[in-house]
Amino acid sequence: MKRIGLLAGSLRAESYARKVVRNLGLMGPNTVMIEPISLAHLPLLHDQMSSREQAICRAFKAQIKQLDGFCLVTPEINRGMPGCLKNALDIASVSDDGNLWQGKPALIASVSTGKLGGMSANQQLKQLALVLGMQVIQPSEIYLSDVEQLFAKHDLLTDEQTVTFLKLAMARLVAAVQGAEPTSPALTFAFSPDDIQLQQQGQTIGQATFDWSTGLLVITEVTIEPDFAHQGLAGQLMLKLIMMARLFDLSIVAGCGYSQAFFKLHPAIAQRLCLH
Ligand SMILES: Cc1cc2nc3c(=O)[nH]c(=O)nc-3n(C[C@H](O)[C@H](O)[C@H](O)COP(=O)(O)O)c2cc1C
Repeated sequence: MKRIGLLAGSLRAESYARKVVRNLGLMGPNTVMIEPISLAHLPLLHDQMSSREQAICRAFKAQIKQLDGFCLVTPEINRGMPGCLKNALDIASVSDDGNLWQGKPALIASVSTGKLGGMSANQQLKQLALVLGMQVIQPSEIYLSDVEQLFAKHDLLTDEQTVTFLKLAMARLVAAVQGAEPTSPALTFAFSPDDIQLQQQGQTIGQATFDWSTGLLVITEVTIEPDFAHQGLAGQLMLKLIMMARLFDLSIVAGCGYSQAFFKLHPAIAQRLCLH
């Protein structure tokens, strides 16, 4: 399975860039692995690193090496890309295996609480991505202005225009990573702060409901319309819930019969993500 890494150019706890990149992760299909990548622990690149710093850089490069594409979301600070993102891109540009970004597709977006959507930082990031040999996917001009207004409860992106635009970009990234033409996925997922709806050609064929409180994702019900039962679709909803828990750092509470049965069948996932 192909893997897409999520990188946000901010170390701020409540970073909007990180919130956007997490939402992009949710927009990917269940046929790709989505990996959030932390930049918080990376040392500044220089030639006299301690052995501990070198080990951190080696681990980061190993992560980047196994990824097939990236979502890069940058804020704009003083008309530029923050140093933490530039530093991360620099670190993995040099390795025993060469430049680890080379040839990999990248979705590039910028955010700002101002009106210009981080356009200058976005241009810098695109230039750097081209220098590093990344394949910048279209649409290549994703500038999210007044970003703080785009979220609903729980940091979910609900602004319809933004969601539609980002879904298009994500579909193009996934197609580039999978080496295929972009197609409309047979199944789509619509997120709200209380449920995920599973849709086929615009028709809702199933849903998962949940309570999301601080640090917890309590799954309250997973249902599939009777005509679509026994096709593994409830499992697709569970995969989305698991992805949501991973991206937003939530522990899962299996609060309905289906989710309890699912985790009994997948004890390794339960061990990692469920509250015991
Ligand atoms: C020191 C500083 C400089 C900033 N400079 C810019 C800027 O040049 N352009 C802009 O659009 N926003 C600027 N901002 C606003 C940021 O875009 C906004 O704080 C954003 O939320 C930061 O990203 P984050 O939420 O991912 O940490 C600046 C913010 C700070 C604190």
